[in-house]
Amino acid sequence: MQTNYFDGDVAVGYDAGVAAMFAPNVLGPTIDVLAELADGQAALELAIGTGRVALPLSERGVHLHGIELSEAMVDQLRAKPGAERIDVAIGDMATTRVDGRFGLVFLVFNTIGNVTAQDGQVAVFENAAAHLQPGGRFVVEVGVPHLHDRFDVFNHTDEHVGIDEYDAATQRSWSHHYSSADGETYHRRSIPFRKVWPAELDLMARIAGMRLENRWSDWDRTPFTNESTKHVSVWRKA
Ligand SMILES: C[S@@+](CC[C@H](N)C(=O)[O-])C[C@H]1O[C@@H](n2cnc3c(N)ncnc32)[C@H](O)[C@@H]1O
Repeated sequence: MQTNYFDGDVAVGYDAGVAAMFAPNVLGPTIDVLAELADGQAALELAIGTGRVALPLSERGVHLHGIELSEAMVDQLRAKPGAERIDVAIGDMATTRVDGRFGLVFLVFNTIGNVTAQDGQVAVFENAAAHLQPGGRFVVEVGVPHLHDRFDVFNHTDEHVGIDEYDAATQRSWSHHYSSADGETYHRRSIPFRKVWPAELDLMARIAGMRLENRWSDWDRTPFTNESTKHVSVWRKA
């Protein structure tokens, strides 16, 4: 049973909190790649959230469905123009099925890591493959684990201090968010993740009957190298 870390105020504040991820230079290439890979067929977004990616992709004419654990995130999505074009099922992306077969299934913004056990991540790949037509594609965007840094301060303002904690031995990690209204008293919220290496993801894909077709270091399709801190990977169903 997955815990919902994106409920209540977290869902209400989500879009503002990740405003940088809405920037045209981030979202534009994401939508370009996904629209091209959908190739006129219906697409399914796992963990669709507030529709950051799904809404502009649907504006490009891609017929979209979504699966999402948090009803509160979907409430945010449903309040936006264009949401009526997208069918969303509430549930765990490892097990929830929606009707239809898709040319593209995608899972972006590190969200495979929100499933914190290897078995669960394998189940996500199997569920993605079960929704794909033969030849359909599964796309994942996720960071590359780092071997040594245990703590990484990724944001530091009076209102918010963000620290990622990572344990390389177990591949477990936590994003700690310290939030404050007055710059003095802080409230902590910690979200657990399971970090996963590209090669492990490739094995999960093989278990689910898919093979790697492309791996880029970002949505601009630059090659994945030793220096890459994240990857966008595309697996294709046989
Ligand atoms: C970082 S947000 C990404 C949302 C959206 N895809 C985006 O790019 O903005 C992570 C989302 O994953 C959802 N989520 C986490 N675990 C999930 C699961 N097991 N099944 C479905 N959704 C899940 C959360 O509720 C949240 O909406």
